[in-house]
Amino acid sequence: MAERVWWRDGVHYQIYPRSWADSDGDGVGDLRGIIDRLDHLGWLGVDGVWLSPIMVSPDADWGYDVADYTGVQPGLGTLADVDELIAAAGRRDIKIILDIVPNHTSIEHPWFAESRSSPDNPKRDWYVWADSKADGSPPNNWVSSFGGPAWTLDDATGQYYLHNFTPGQPDLNWWNEEVRAEFDRILRFWFDRGVAGFRIDVAHMVVKDKELRDNPPVTDADHWMDQLRGQRPVYNQCRPEVHDVIRRWRAVADSYDPARMLVGETFVFDVPTMASFYGADDELNLAFNIPLLHTKFEPAALRGVVEETEAEIPPGCWPVWTAGNHDVPRFPTRWGDNDPARARCALMMTLTLRGTAFLYYGDEIGMPDTDVPRERLRDPVGLRFHPLAGRDPARTPMQWDAGPGGGFSTGPAAEPWLPFGDFAACNVADQRRDPNSMLALCRDLIGLRDAVPDLRDGTYETIAADGGLWAWRRGERVVVALNLGDAPATVGGVDGIVRIGTDRARDGERADGALALGPWEGVVVWLDGEPRPALM
Ligand code: NOJ
Repeated sequence: MAERVWWRDGVHYQIYPRSWADSDGDGVGDLRGIIDRLDHLGWLGVDGVWLSPIMVSPDADWGYDVADYTGVQPGLGTLADVDELIAAAGRRDIKIILDIVPNHTSIEHPWFAESRSSPDNPKRDWYVWADSKADGSPPNNWVSSFGGPAWTLDDATGQYYLHNFTPGQPDLNWWNEEVRAEFDRILRFWFDRGVAGFRIDVAHMVVKDKELRDNPPVTDADHWMDQLRGQRPVYNQCRPEVHDVIRRWRAVADSYDPARMLVGETFVFDVPTMASFYGADDELNLAFNIPLLHTKFEPAALRGVVEETEAEIPPGCWPVWTAGNHDVPRFPTRWGDNDPARARCALMMTLTLRGTAFLYYGDEIGMPDTDVPRERLRDPVGLRFHPLAGRDPARTPMQWDAGPGGGFSTGPAAEPWLPFGDFAACNVADQRRDPNSMLALCRDLIGLRDAVPDLRDGTYETIAADGGLWAWRRGERVVVALNLGDAPATVGGVDGIVRIGTDRARDGERADGALALGPWEGVVVWLDGEPRPALM
């Protein structure tokens, strides 16, 4: 590849704005806090920042229930702050990616107020309304992703409205051309302000079956999440017509110079369906790899997803890898049992596979989940399913230093909206002083990727290995080997220099043929040969 493309070759960083940096001491993060802390991201070497929703919201689902798509949530900041953030990030060569939620609005959105006001209202058809069955039960058997029926009866007009998440999140009707045109306008509103891309919430889901047919029951082969809901989401997700909508957004994004980027939350459990959202390179630029996120941290399973992804995504398209986000337990806990050696292997994997990497805030310091007691829960999923499920443990304040309040709030440490984790044990400031830290490993891997073309655009090729070992070649000159097992392992056929090891004592070590790895250890090796000219 001759030319670098920021979203393809770079490493991006997801900020959950309420939890990253609080500039006004109210215990909730905000945009000014992000502006004040941009140096951290510049120093780390990230190319793009995805902000979880910052639009106006009553926070039934913490921003994923939008009441105004072109306004900023007052507690987080203002439009002027967004402009300033785009400019300040731009000075550090960092792009801003906003989260957009097209599947549903907030129940408090003025569109919904109009829509529910009467069956004749011009906005009635902007949402999915349907009559009950003859016995008064909901129009069909669909269940919400958050549990319970996906329909709520609206007493005023006697019809049910559809909500694939909480009743406070009514689904828009994407068969309606006015809805489509309105979202073109919203995308352009933000692109015109300099936003470089969007992360599209549940991108696979926005179009529903026009006839609202019942979903079929699950089979034994279905994913455990579908088993829990008891049905296969055949008619309320991944409808063929959703691709028309995504192609339309891509055309909007591509109409800008430089083209803007669309990364979709394609929350599906199989790789071919995920790959379908790239279209013929005319739909999403990147489709989040949920199958990897839901895979056990075991070499055969991980390798299987990676190989299938490499085989399935269309020619010219690009994988995207992430170890966590605001919806799943943090990877040091989920994948690593809070064992730092495992977390370091997971980080090395994310940053060295072929594809764009997204870090979730705190990944760079190996932040584990924080226990959130029942009385402090804020997430609607946690409030409903605690202690079985809940997303608050992965959303607690960023841990900047060991001082009062972990450096999250400026001024006197307010009690934050979610409890602090153990910032004395794990924080940015301490790790910046330690060349062996997770933070140093993260920054050095990002730097290596930036410097070595093979790590950015080189092909992925599995190297045969067994046991806990998973090794792959990137392009001509790089081998990555991870020992994801409790027994020592040896990778063969490697002549070169260890550029970065998860055990930093191995950096610079020479390998002649065979390289022994301890349990839960990984290396990036620069193979012998003529140096290739750097692309830039
Ligand atoms: C996916 C988002 O990532 C999640 O946080 C949210 O609750 C649902 N979509 C509904 O918008």
